[in-house]
Order: sequence, then structure tokens, then C-alpha cells
Amino acid sequence: MLLLTIETSCDETAAAVVRDGRTVLSNIVASQVKDHAVYGGVVPEIASRMHLEAIPAVIGEALAGASVSLDAIEGIAVTRGPGLAGALLVGTSVAKAMAFARQLPLVGVNHIEGHLSAIFLEREVAFPFIALVVSGGHTHLYRVDSIGRYVTLGQTLDDAAGEAFDKVAKLLGLSYPGGVQVDRLAADGDPERIKFPRPLLHDGSFNFSFSGLKTAVLNFVHKNRVSDDDQLLRDLCASFQRAACDVLVTKTFQAAETAGIERIVVAGGVACNSALRREMAQAAAARGVELAIPSPSLCSDNAAMLAVPGDYYLSRGISDDNSLDARVNWPLDEIKRAEISNG
Ligand code: KG4
Ligand code: ZN
Repeated sequence: MLLLTIETSCDETAAAVVRDGRTVLSNIVASQVKDHAVYGGVVPEIASRMHLEAIPAVIGEALAGASVSLDAIEGIAVTRGPGLAGALLVGTSVAKAMAFARQLPLVGVNHIEGHLSAIFLEREVAFPFIALVVSGGHTHLYRVDSIGRYVTLGQTLDDAAGEAFDKVAKLLGLSYPGGVQVDRLAADGDPERIKFPRPLLHDGSFNFSFSGLKTAVLNFVHKNRVSDDDQLLRDLCASFQRAACDVLVTKTFQAAETAGIERIVVAGGVACNSALRREMAQAAAARGVELAIPSPSLCSDNAAMLAVPGDYYLSRGISDDNSLDARVNWPLDEIKRAEISNG
């Protein structure tokens, strides 16, 4: 099927055209990051207003970039949740209107489901696999039995990994979103210089906690003149990043070992982090585990990733009607569509 996909869950207005849930013909992302940076974080009202303004052109660009007209589109997949209510409503409303006007099948896709299946746009991975989804709003470990069948193994008890990167960046005076800047500064830093805590590292669960690590960085900044010492700033970024990655890598491989599964997928915006990619690759090589991480442009928010589950559902006749609503909270385990549970 030739799908048009639409993503507006947070601060990126995105649309893509994808064939058969595998071949990306276009993948347009209009970022609002600069407009939110002055406020130090995403302002929900501004996000929905900007989605409204950007979405017609973004969809037009996606069609033009794929060299197809709307007449050629055979179905629409849209992010239904989780995300910001007003932002999600823009995408779902546009998708419903287009599907109704064109009499096209429509399916609402879970944003996290999109993230963890983005890898299929680049390569196949056999089921089952362990997925670590690390983004601005999520830090979750899942066992993925197939598209649509997910079991949550663990999750953060407080901040998400991306949130921790962004909060640490903010307290270091770096602009929003700071994750990528921490990554950049850490490249020239000593990750062993400051011993930060590794919360819940050996608690036996697959849960995460990042607020204590963030507080440890805050306490360090209060006691040391980081802003006067460029090398100390770089060492601090590297040391924080090493602590966060240690926990993410260790727990993910523990989950795989416990489940007896030798395939791991890492997804979400924080999967762009160079240290996380490197440490995951080293751990996988040492244990003989298969590791798959999408290219950075498919890790951060985009619409093409929705086409993997979108095509899977629509090609099996699983669709939503015009009553499709936005789901601000939508745990993956709740997806269990009857049709999928039956195999
Ligand atoms: O998946 P995503 O684009 O949006 C959400 O669904 O949240 O993830 C965004 C998050 C932000 O917290 C951002 O700072 C973080 O991913 N991020 C990074 C890097 N690139 C993006 N964190 C650490 N290192 C990076 N290179
Ligand atoms: Zn995301």
C-alpha cells in the first residue's frame, strides 16, 4: 500500500509517503524547536498553533517529495498518542478529514510503536526482540513479539532519559533541547572524571530512575565553578552521559538475557546519542547479541516510522473510523487489537 503518514505528537510537524511499510519515498519534518527554545521547553499551545499553520505545506511537501498526487495514496496512518492533546488533535483531525474526503482507510498509530518499528525502514529484525525506547517523554523496555504485541518489561519511575539530558543541559546554561549539546560537549570530555550515581543499576528490576542523577549533577554545579572552566564542563557532560548510558545499556542487556532473547532494538530521540550508540555496540559485540539502531533521522520524531505499523494494520483490514480520538496517555500494552491477538 502507498501510505500518507502524519505525526504531530509534540513539536515536530511531520508527514511522509511510504510504500508497503518499508520504502520511504519522502519524510518531511518541520521542527518548531527554535520557537520553543526561548521558553526552555515545549509550550503546548504554541505547538498546536504551529502544527495548524505548518501541516498543509508539510503534507504538500511530502507528496511532492515522493512525486505522487493525493489520488495515488491508498491509506492514511496518523499518530493517535501518546503526546500533547492539542498537538495530537491537529494531526488526527487532518487525517480524519482527508480520509473522509478521499474515502481512504485510516489507522491511528501509537507514537512509541512508531519509534520501535522505525528500524524496519532500514532492515528486517526477527521477532521477538527487546526494544529500548528512549525519548523526551519515554524510557521503556519492551519485549516485542510482533507488530501490535508488546509486553512492558520496565520503565522510568521519574524522568525520561531525554528529559534528564535536557534538564542537565538547562542547568548548565545550554539551550533547549540540550541532549544533542551534552553529546557534543561530552565528545571532548573525560567520562571518568566525576563519579555520578547509577540509579537502580543493580535493583533486579528493569526500571529506570534519572532524577537522582540529575540532582547529583545539580549539586556538583553548586559546589564547583563549572561555567568558568570549559574543560570541567566537557568532563561533566561526559561523566553524566557515561552514568546515564551505563544504566541504559546494563538494564537492556539484562532484560535480553532474562528473556532469553538475543536481539535488541534501540529507538527514540536519545538513540541519536553517540555514546549510547557506541556503548550499545560494544556490549552487543562482547555478548554476541544482534543490535539494531536506526539512523539518527529515523530515531528522532518523524512520520515515516508510522508507516511500519500503519501498513501492517491496514493491509490486514484493521482500521479506525471517523470517531478516532487522540490519546494523551496510551500504554503500548493496551494496543492489543483483537484481530492481532488472534494471530
Ligand atoms: O523521540 P524524540 O525526537 O521526541 C520525543 O518523542 O520525545 O526525542 C527527543 C529527545 C529530547 O529529549 C532530546 O534532547 C533527545 O531526544 N536527544 C538526545 C540527542 N538527540 C536528541 N539526547 C542525547 N543525545 C543526543 N544526541
Ligand atoms: Zn518521539
